[in-house]
Amino acid sequence: YTEEGNYDLVGNNTPVFFIRDAIKFPDFIHTQKRDPRTHLKNPTAVWDFWSLSPESLHQVSILMSDRGIPATLRHMHGFGSHTFKWVNAEGDGVWVKYHFKTEQGVKNLAPDVAAKIAGENPDYHTEDLFNAIEKGDLPSWKLYVQIMPLEDADTYRFDPFDVTKVWSQKDYPLIEVGRMVLDRNPENYFAEVEQATFSPGTLVPGIDVSPDKMLQGRLFAYSDAHRYRVGANHQALPINRPRSEVKNYQRDGQMRFDDNGGRSVYYEPNSFSGPTESHENKQAAYPVSGVADSVAYDHNNHYTQAGDLYRLLSEDERTRLVANIVEAMKPVEKEEIKLRQIQHFYKADPEYGKRIADGLGLSVPQQVK
Ligand code: HEM
Repeated sequence: YTEEGNYDLVGNNTPVFFIRDAIKFPDFIHTQKRDPRTHLKNPTAVWDFWSLSPESLHQVSILMSDRGIPATLRHMHGFGSHTFKWVNAEGDGVWVKYHFKTEQGVKNLAPDVAAKIAGENPDYHTEDLFNAIEKGDLPSWKLYVQIMPLEDADTYRFDPFDVTKVWSQKDYPLIEVGRMVLDRNPENYFAEVEQATFSPGTLVPGIDVSPDKMLQGRLFAYSDAHRYRVGANHQALPINRPRSEVKNYQRDGQMRFDDNGGRSVYYEPNSFSGPTESHENKQAAYPVSGVADSVAYDHNNHYTQAGDLYRLLSEDERTRLVANIVEAMKPVEKEEIKLRQIQHFYKADPEYGKRIADGLGLSVPQQVK
């Protein structure tokens, strides 16, 4: 809740994502959901999709690394993931990425420990977070931003709007801007958690979006979900209602539980002293040129950053990463899918690919050697 309305940053605990074009999101989610016939999780679908979508390699490597199983929700970093735009009062903008660094330190669980906990106490994460806050051990994160001048976007060595890539912190160092503390638990879970509706499209003046194709898709997808999941008047619920003055002309709809705007003016422009349109919140102007079309990103280097990540890991971390991937890929039903995915690991780093191939009892396919 800000003085100028709600601002939602609907992020993740990794800086990147599996795909970079919103058009692929429903397919991606289908592979993560249960198989429509068996109603079981389907590792063949998961790896088939990933192996045919090599832009996923960076995120898959993070997911399968130690960081894929945080010890608690308090012991992980957070990220806005996408590139956003900050605009000052003069209308000058910069590109920005958000990083929330945990002040509890990063801690992860070994897969066998996690499997045991999941069986014994499936509420483990919720319980840990609730109890920590309840006893005053308030979890906190330092907020940093990376700032990129607008013009750098044209020449940077990775497309800065591609959510499968990170910006090097050597090029754009972290700048500390604040601190987030989780200082109270909800009074009522349904009212304040189940009914909450967060959307990347909920912005305040000075914060804009970027041409990131995933972010562009998310801008309307969440509100669609909210109208379906909670209802047309979800923004009027106490948890979602901005704490600043609300001025809109929205009327009617299911579950309109207040006075529905009473007799106030319900259109603009009007001659009855009703609210007038404000231009303050207008998106900052930016030049565009070229042909509007549905086109893929033209940068296809999916291997450098995934390989850099692998090379940064210690020997023990590499061993655990490889073991996690091998275990996850074993049930894949088609050898062709395994071989295609091994090629991606190999292209990121030959050792990475070879160790996974060995673990699966396969050889790295000839054409990439
Ligand atoms: C095109 C890509 C994506 C689409 C279409 C999409 C769509 C959605 C939808 C429809 C929901 C449910 C919203 C609700 O009912 O309140 C959701 C939840 C969520 N998504 Fe995404 N998503 C996408 C990518 C991402 C990415 C890249 C991130 C992280 C950086 C992310 C983070 C989340 C989170 C944290 C939630 C839970 C929000 C909550 O519980 O309030 N999503 N997503």
